[in-house]
Amino acid sequence: MARLSSQHLLDLLDLSPEETWSLAEQALRLKRGEARDSLEGRFLSLLFFNPSVRTRVSCEAAAARLGAAATAITAGTETWNFEVGEGAVMDGETQEHVRELAPVLSRYSDWIGVRRSERISVGLAQKETPSWETLRGDGFLRTFAKHSEVPVLNLESNFAHPLQGLADLASLHEQFGGSPRGKRYVLSWAWHPKALPMATPHSQLVAACDAGCDVVLARPEGWSLDGEVLTRASERAASRGGSLSETSDLEEALDGAQIVCAKSWGATSFYGKPPAEEASAKRELRSRWIIDEQAMQRTQDARFMHCLPVRRNVVVTDGVLDSRRSLVIDQAENRMWTAAAALCALLEE
Ligand code: CP
Repeated sequence: MARLSSQHLLDLLDLSPEETWSLAEQALRLKRGEARDSLEGRFLSLLFFNPSVRTRVSCEAAAARLGAAATAITAGTETWNFEVGEGAVMDGETQEHVRELAPVLSRYSDWIGVRRSERISVGLAQKETPSWETLRGDGFLRTFAKHSEVPVLNLESNFAHPLQGLADLASLHEQFGGSPRGKRYVLSWAWHPKALPMATPHSQLVAACDAGCDVVLARPEGWSLDGEVLTRASERAASRGGSLSETSDLEEALDGAQIVCAKSWGATSFYGKPPAEEASAKRELRSRWIIDEQAMQRTQDARFMHCLPVRRNVVVTDGVLDSRRSLVIDQAENRMWTAAAALCALLEE
């Protein structure tokens, strides 16, 4: 596996489609026992501002399987509160600046993972979030990476969740024998009681485009994804022999689909507004935007994908999630193998 063109892994869009595909292939070689990379003596630090099961354990397990050690800390409860603002006068709730935090953790670690999504950070879930224009820059993560002396992995930010995207890419590779090119892949918005971040669907969309699928983004009017992601994902799909289109007609999208990936996210237009406004605007979408058996009947015996955690019988019915079509457990397992591949690639000379 060659060294990545980027020093950090903050967004799949920072890598070429060929690099993301190589990472997925390397992950599957590790999974099959065909590659025996060693990270003996290395140390991984993980910093979480938001809850996690898969990201935390898959990264720790990936490190351990290759001989490295890892630690995970939860910001604000197990640690100090961290400041990121340039020139901040720190007489409030924050005790340590990222300008010290990042280089200090770098002296202990060979990589540092950071999960910080303002949408689900402690205290912000029930309040107005800043505008999308503010959040899409991932200020904390990017400032942390600037001051880090070692590679930084984005464990989910406002904008991207590259490790989820890589796991989805590996899962597509695995399911279709290495050739998902031209398969009809539907990324479907789903109703959810909360307004979730766009990081995961962004990286899932890019991954499906990098796989060369014919990707259909199905979402209600007003719930599209970030414009830059759509433009760049479309270019990447074309370069891999695939395509990207958008529709607000879920039934039309599902016709002939070979992969259905469900995900919920909040609309950019409601960032900066009270959460109740978005909840009210999407109320009537609840019954239509769910993946159930009827929806799956329209497909070409499609596989079902979801990043987990998933709300049963809200995003997807039990009947679909528990069926042979569901890939969600394999997808979650692939988080570990793709994390392992990424850790190795970030240290390549
Ligand atoms: N898919 C995912 O990132 O899961 P966690 O939030 O549990 O880490």
